Amino acid sequence: MRLISPNFADLEKPNLEIKTFPDGDSYVRVPGIEKFSGQEVTLFHRLYPNQNSSLIEALFILKTLKKIKCTVTLVAPYLPYSRQDKIFLEGETESAKIVCNFLAESGVDELVTFDCHFLKKEGAKKYGRLKITNISLANTLVEKAKEKFGSSEFLTISPDQGAAYMASNSMKKKRGNYETGVNAYREVKELNFDFDVSGKSILIIDDMVSTGGTMIKAIENVKKNGAKKVGCAATHGFFLNDSLQKLRSMCEFVFVSNSIQSPVSQVNIMDHLGGYL
Ligand code: R5P
Repeated sequence: MRLISPNFADLEKPNLEIKTFPDGDSYVRVPGIEKFSGQEVTLFHRLYPNQNSSLIEALFILKTLKKIKCTVTLVAPYLPYSRQDKIFLEGETESAKIVCNFLAESGVDELVTFDCHFLKKEGAKKYGRLKITNISLANTLVEKAKEKFGSSEFLTISPDQGAAYMASNSMKKKRGNYETGVNAYREVKELNFDFDVSGKSILIIDDMVSTGGTMIKAIENVKKNGAKKVGCAATHGFFLNDSLQKLRSMCEFVFVSNSIQSPVSQVNIMDHLGGYL
């Protein structure tokens, strides 16, 4: 059985009530709750934007479903706090793990998410106490970019080590004219003489664009090295401040999925959730 949060209304018809009281408290109601008793429930609830209140809403829904003994799969396309998975300074919190444990302890039996920042590969994985199924949109992003570049051959690169798996995965499996072998990807910061972008079309692919800083640097770098055309794609697009406008002015195209809604959401996550619909 499915429960759809109002924050998924752009993709499915909601059947959960969520409101915010004037003082900021959250209100959650599961109409017709008796029919969910003891059932396997797939809950579609975004945890971004408004990550803190969305997590509290998730807690209320999950605890309510657990009270009636449901098994719950949570589909949350972007996992907030996933970039805070390491401790750099004494006393810092391991926020990614704390959030995952919070979800597990609140009643998530399985989390389904997309290109989770700290996992760096597709598939099932336990992180802290949470069972996560991570779906990668890398191949779909590359296929879409192929349409946009038209007939021109292009190379796919990632701007850093974290998203290198997205560039390499999409290359390994494909047999298109854009494939030039296992060396067809590089981290932008490692662009050097053995990887010549000059005169070439380049797709820069990443798990997310937040302030746009990483992508902007990457575009500048490949352009400085003589790239002919540059496009950029990511799974999650926050596009904080005026980053979307900047990126659009710098390259041929920019697109992301609708894990977070944006004016350039062109890949539909629902097409990748077959088993959960
Ligand atoms: C970093 O490891 C991520 O893969 C992204 O490259 C990064 O988080 C994007 O953030 P921003 O858009 O703020 O540079």
